[in-house]
Amino acid sequence: MDHFHLRDGELYAEDVPLARIAAEVGTPVYVYSRATLERHARVFKEALAPLGDPHLAFAVKANPNLAVLRVMQREGFGADVVSGGELARALAAGMPASEVVFSGVGKQEYELIRGLDAGLGQFNLESEEEGTELSVLAAARGVRAPCALRVNPDVDAGTHDKISTGKADNKFGVPIGEAPAIYARLAALPGLDMRGVAVHIGSQLSDLSPLERAFEKLGTLIATLRAVGLKVTHADLGGGLGVPYKAGDVMPSPAEYGAMVARVTAGWDVRLMFEPGRVIAGNAGVLLTKVVRVKRGIRDPFVIVDAAMNDLARPALYGSWHDFEAVRPSNKRMTANIVGPICETGDTFAMGRNIEGVEAGDLAVFRTAGAYGATMASSYNSRGFVAEVMVDGDKYAIVADRILPEEITAAERVPDWL
Ligand code: LLP
Repeated sequence: MDHFHLRDGELYAEDVPLARIAAEVGTPVYVYSRATLERHARVFKEALAPLGDPHLAFAVKANPNLAVLRVMQREGFGADVVSGGELARALAAGMPASEVVFSGVGKQEYELIRGLDAGLGQFNLESEEEGTELSVLAAARGVRAPCALRVNPDVDAGTHDKISTGKADNKFGVPIGEAPAIYARLAALPGLDMRGVAVHIGSQLSDLSPLERAFEKLGTLIATLRAVGLKVTHADLGGGLGVPYKAGDVMPSPAEYGAMVARVTAGWDVRLMFEPGRVIAGNAGVLLTKVVRVKRGIRDPFVIVDAAMNDLARPALYGSWHDFEAVRPSNKRMTANIVGPICETGDTFAMGRNIEGVEAGDLAVFRTAGAYGATMASSYNSRGFVAEVMVDGDKYAIVADRILPEEITAAERVPDWL
């Protein structure tokens, strides 16, 4: 459920016509709905409420905009961060450091130090090497870093290869078979407080069974660790719930997910932790764009829009589907290829798609662009970065300025020897 809907023949975000945002802010522009973010946050919280007092950490990578993070903070979420930059954003949005979890395979020394100095809630260690390095840094500061060991359960999440993270040959976590020995060695280090285990097998999961298998393996690991006297008080189950991108997509609901987790984790006697991203933010954002022109094609016409693969990379990177809807739908339909202006064929949002009829100057949206949208933008073809807007009822605010190509050029230098 989201708050982008037709009213009097045109598409609104909550009570604001998207055409008004396009006129005042320009296109392309990402538009987020505060009510949708809040709704998704609450549905997720309610689905997990029977699990006691779970720790909810919004995966900042899905949408790191400060206003989005502030909404999540007000909903009682902490953050899952994967870099010093994301950590700084979570803190700037008002999330207490103690509510922040630091994941990622390549945390650098300065990032570990920043995390220690901030007093982070938990470091999710992805290797024994990382744990050893963190222990030295923590001990030198006279602290013990709260840590979980991320394990790779060797489960195929059944999602796109590029966003699968729990297969044996993926780079994430330590092999689950080696986890007991590694956990024991790390628990003996002076700078670490080994308190739990973590798993995350992938993103955009449409089926709960791979998650269930991974969680069962985690349960067995917890028992193995406890059997030799190791402490386990926390279990981080990651994120990964998929969202519908097109009509007919059927995804497990947060309630079904919560029920599965309750069943599998019964008796674990730990504080459960979660890192949802897409399921909160995905349907809470659209990319608003304008049709530049419609060009005849050999088969279907090309609808050339002013948004491109640099603004929304998912179709080019993963072949992802994003619904394309006219802001003022006519009653005509057309079959078209939807493309951006960038000079490579990969800049294609859809081929042979049946859409509402559009012509030059019309506004349209790519749906479900609130997660992994603006955050994955680049400035390829010197196009700059698009603005981001948040709507709240009948008002909106620009929550990220458009960054113009000339502002990027201003940071470049031609050396005087050239
Ligand atoms: N926790 C960890 C450790 C993760 O690596 C991720 C996502 C999440 C949580 C959040 O997962 P979610 O609930 O959003 O599925 N750019 C790709 C998605 C990459 C996801 C990477 N990790 C896309 O556009 O589909």
